[in-house]
Amino acid sequence: MTTPDTATAGTTTRIAQHRTYLMCRPEHFTVSYTINPWMEPANPTDTAKAVAQWQKLYDTYLELGHEVHLIEPIEGLPDMVYTANGGFLIDGTAYGAKFRFAERVPEGPAFMEWFAANGYTVAEPVEVNEGEGDFLLVGDTILAGTGFRSTGDSHRELGEIFGKEVVSLTLVDPRFYHLDTAIAVLDPVQGEGGVEKANIAYLPHAFDEASQAILAERYPEAIRVSDDDGAVFGLNSSSDGYNVIISPRAKGFEKQLRERGYNPILVDLSELLLGGGGIKCCTLELRR
Ligand code: ARG
Repeated sequence: MTTPDTATAGTTTRIAQHRTYLMCRPEHFTVSYTINPWMEPANPTDTAKAVAQWQKLYDTYLELGHEVHLIEPIEGLPDMVYTANGGFLIDGTAYGAKFRFAERVPEGPAFMEWFAANGYTVAEPVEVNEGEGDFLLVGDTILAGTGFRSTGDSHRELGEIFGKEVVSLTLVDPRFYHLDTAIAVLDPVQGEGGVEKANIAYLPHAFDEASQAILAERYPEAIRVSDDDGAVFGLNSSSDGYNVIISPRAKGFEKQLRERGYNPILVDLSELLLGGGGIKCCTLELRR
């Protein structure tokens, strides 16, 4: 694949930045329990198909020049493929996850072991939190979701660990139970002179009114996606500042991204959607 790594839209130049990610091959993927409205254990899953779709995402990251590390999948932990929930990392510090549901609790220590073995300083969590599923770094601010999984107390803990501003947002629609199903970070960088040049895309209806007001005030330039695009997990995408990997079903969002000078790349993870996860869920950013 040859993709240019910059583009100019109006006065804004989009620049692809190098990223380092952690992923987990879904060798043991299946849906054997229900902890979100997408999961129906009665519907059959196809593990080989999940692996093939996941491989496409992995290959795409490598083709874009990103670095991808892998954590060994553990039998009996079918949701481990959603590495975004395994922790939250900034500047070499990994805040570990403490999962809400018993089915996923053992993933917390497994990810923390990986972080420690790979040179990260691990901050063990006291409070229930699901890592980058609910915490998103936008410029120098952390947007933190609550309502279904991570607790408000984890937002406080997060602020203490990283010493950054944490903005709490409340999710209200059970289909969008993690923040990364309702917000995509598009330009997560500090611009020139420290000016926050960050932007996001989001699904307004996934949030309560107070949170919608916060988002509208902080991100007047944000892309607001339609309910249709939100409902196909369009926002569960990953951006390097220029290339944005999204679901092929999110037609309107694809167009909005193009209009703003981003380069949408379509990767279909339909099989992993049966577990209630998409592109971003399968991707944890490792920030040294
Ligand atoms: N089955 C998983 C759960 O409900 C899916 C996690 C999706 N991950 C995400 N970052 N949204 O916990």
